[in-house]
Amino acid sequence: MKKLPSHTTTIVVVLCVVVAVLAGGIRFVWRMGNNVGYAPEQPIPFSHQLHGGDLQIPCAYCHVGVDTSKHAVVPAVNICMNCHAVVKTESPLIQKLKGYADRSESIPWIKVHDIPDHARFTHERHIAKNVACEECHGDVKTMARIKQVKTLQMGFCIDCHRKADVNASINCESCHY
Ligand code: HEC
Ligand code: HEC
Ligand code: HEC
Ligand code: HEC
Ligand code: HEC
Repeated sequence: MKKLPSHTTTIVVVLCVVVAVLAGGIRFVWRMGNNVGYAPEQPIPFSHQLHGGDLQIPCAYCHVGVDTSKHAVVPAVNICMNCHAVVKTESPLIQKLKGYADRSESIPWIKVHDIPDHARFTHERHIAKNVACEECHGDVKTMARIKQVKTLQMGFCIDCHRKADVNASINCESCHY
């Protein structure tokens, strides 16, 4: 077999390296921005800007138990009906909402923030130490549609935990089962 001229070999090798670096880079960037910007369309366009911002309904009125449990549950439709049994009943959106309530069906909200099952997270401990919702969820009160704005990856968690004034655990077992 005819030996390739050495400069061709060099070009091939360089190209392989460039492709490998690019692929690694893309993967890295993708991991960095994992889920940031994720803002799925919800079954009913519920606005935090309106309810949390303009109307100033406290977060815990709907996210019952956020300060006492692991999860910050998404409210059941009957909480919405506390107001919407009478508020804006002429709206097609509210009629759709009432449909779920009448059928005793839960609204299939799409979960936005989600960390892998091998990582342990609890709201309670953070709320007890006055860590604001905004630290991890961004300025929810200005969001017409919920959007993930922080990576919620390990580096993000640890950056805060190791701050001198926070001094929370950075032991692996604290966050991993
Ligand atoms: C404390 C009272 C209150 C609660 C609880 C409440 N809302 Fe509302 N909601 C309002 C008010 C007030 C408006 C604005 C009405 C207007 O535009 O005149 C509104 C507007 C809306 C609209 C916009 C309707 C339109 O056609 O413009 C939607 C959709 C909505 N709410 C969904 C919900 C859902 C879903 C829940 C439960 C998760 C909920 N609301 C809970 C008071 C409430
Ligand atoms: C009137 C009820 C209501 C109030 C008040 C409210 N929320 Fe919500 N929240 C909801 C509903 C319903 C959803 C699910 C639909 C959606 O994602 O828009 C939700 C979703 C969320 C999510 C995303 C959950 C996920 O799937 O990852 C976050 C974060 C959140 N709320 C934070 C807040 C914060 C912070 C406040 C206070 C500033 C607040 N909420 C006030 C009803 C409410
Ligand atoms: C220290 C970070 C942090 C703070 C502070 C925080 N959250 Fe969360 N939140 C998360 C993480 C991480 C998830 C995803 C949890 C999972 O996948 O198990 C989440 C999930 C949620 C969800 C979806 C339901 C659930 O529990 O999985 C809601 C709703 C929510 N948060 C609301 C709030 C509200 C309201 C506050 C303030 C009272 C708040 N969060 C404060 C990190 C935080
Ligand atoms: C903005 C700061 C901040 C961020 C971001 C943050 N935490 Fe924390 N975390 C705290 C504070 C403050 C405590 C409470 C420490 C205490 O009780 O002494 C805590 C406590 C904890 C605990 C309990 C630790 C123990 O000793 O048992 C776990 C688990 C935890 N955080 C997981 C997470 C995870 C997972 C994330 C990322 C998704 C995260 N945290 C993001 C500030 C933060
Ligand atoms: C403050 C909480 C926290 C601490 C402390 C922590 N982790 Fe994590 N770790 C997370 C979270 C949240 C994730 C999932 C999100 C992600 O992929 O980064 C994770 C993911 C991981 C992963 C999977 C990475 C991947 O690419 O999916 C490994 C491996 C890991 N951690 C190992 C460790 C080891 C080893 C330690 C101790 C030196 C440690 N973690 C300490 C929160 C933590």
